[in-house]
Amino acid sequence: MPDWLKDAVFYEIYPQSFYDSNGDGIGDIRGIIAKLDYIKDLGCNALWINPCYDSPFKDAGYDVRDYKKVAPRYGTNEDLYELFDTAHEKGIRVLLDLVPGHTSEEHEWFRASGKAERNEYSDRYIWTDSWIAGIAGHPYIGGECERNGTYMLNFFKCQPALNYGFKDPKYPWQMSYLDEGPVATQEALADIMRFWLDHGCDGFRVDMADSLVKDDDNDKSATCSVWRRIRTMLDEKYPEAALVSEWSNPYQSLNSAGFHMDFYLDHWGNGYNTLLRDYETQGDDDSYFKKDGNGDIERFLNDYIPKYTATEPNGYISFMTCNHDTPRPARTLDEAELKIAYATLLTLPGVPFIYYGDEIGMKYIENIPTKEGGYTRTGSRTPMQWDNSVNCGFSTANADKLYLPVDPESSNEGYDLTVSAQSGRAGSLLNTVKKILAFRHDHSQLEAGAGFKVLLGRKDKPFVFAREDLLIAVNPKETAATGEIGLTGPAKELFSIGRCELNNGVLNMAPQSFAIFEM
Ligand code: NOJ
Repeated sequence: MPDWLKDAVFYEIYPQSFYDSNGDGIGDIRGIIAKLDYIKDLGCNALWINPCYDSPFKDAGYDVRDYKKVAPRYGTNEDLYELFDTAHEKGIRVLLDLVPGHTSEEHEWFRASGKAERNEYSDRYIWTDSWIAGIAGHPYIGGECERNGTYMLNFFKCQPALNYGFKDPKYPWQMSYLDEGPVATQEALADIMRFWLDHGCDGFRVDMADSLVKDDDNDKSATCSVWRRIRTMLDEKYPEAALVSEWSNPYQSLNSAGFHMDFYLDHWGNGYNTLLRDYETQGDDDSYFKKDGNGDIERFLNDYIPKYTATEPNGYISFMTCNHDTPRPARTLDEAELKIAYATLLTLPGVPFIYYGDEIGMKYIENIPTKEGGYTRTGSRTPMQWDNSVNCGFSTANADKLYLPVDPESSNEGYDLTVSAQSGRAGSLLNTVKKILAFRHDHSQLEAGAGFKVLLGRKDKPFVFAREDLLIAVNPKETAATGEIGLTGPAKELFSIGRCELNNGVLNMAPQSFAIFEM
């Protein structure tokens, strides 16, 4: 386990929308370099950058055409190497996004694989043995290549599945995950990882990490064994490199596959994150942090605690404010709600992730046209709002050249969802996040793996948990809350949002309050 993860707080950057350094309307690597001091000052010491490789951008870069080349619109490989170096000088680690399950249909491996004549890449993708074949349960595409077969997709039509084989092959054209072709795919993946690690990257966020071996068992044992091999390589050669999975099943990803961190996502099936959003209940928003909703911390704890307990020796469950695939939290939560939500997420165990712009409460922009396969995700991908100048300080290009439009309300008088406006306002969301993160870095009790115990976790009561000798109390509701926690000794308040008193083990919390006490 890389030691640096203990105190890591990540900042996710969607590069096309972060900062445009050359005035072409699209964010770039040099733009990220220019903003490293901002990220550091915020209190983040690690980055996850969404795919920045050469791509036709039919899925915002998750359709990779060349894994080893930076997309020209973002700059050059040299720019990225410089980003690694400059970030390291400032004490910031950098994770790239690894897309192991599929490539773009324009990747040269795929072009070669579709040729009628057998070649080195014939088995790199999953092909049936006839132009008309296909089986239920997986999407297959025909008619695109000269090869007499159809190929399996992993996500969009532009993303053919790489061949890591099948758990138990059922047709002559299906390979076992232990066969030569699938093992060669694993090797190709390891080669890409070594390429970037050797150039100074600090690890990877892994896209659809559970999608490799097809028709795997429910426990994903074959896919886990692929990742175990990768983890062994890292442990031997790159022990400081970190892996975080898009899996949202820590039993599998942390305990079996060997990931260091796994995201706590909004996935159905593996439990459900009801903290910031709630799509499970129709009608009312019953997410926990909604001040007037019917939210219930027990729903979260019933899902989280068994996962935490079973996986905590092996890795970290990562909470995030949101990501490039989900609505921003500000879609449903206001500034006061966001403060309590972030304070909680940033003091729970694990390694937290902040999505760019969530620290200033950037809005989910409703009903904007889809961009690069974003569809309803597009509203969470608009340009970072740096200041109140033209294009919110994101770019000097004409507004019609921007990757996506800035929030249409940003030209309104008094608009304050920008870094510059909130830097100057004591008590702004931005300054609150900074304070919490500074507190977190100052207290080893809040490290990713430091002790954690729930002291009170019932509906309509304050949510109270201990991190070592710190006691953390949360009341997101619009009504005051009281709770008894059976604490006899004195407690000193170290941090608070709103008024909160703890006397003789009785906690009295004002509406929408949060506090940290030393016991
Ligand atoms: C998950 C990524 O987060 C998402 O943005 C992408 O579209 C799919 N995987 C396919 O790679």
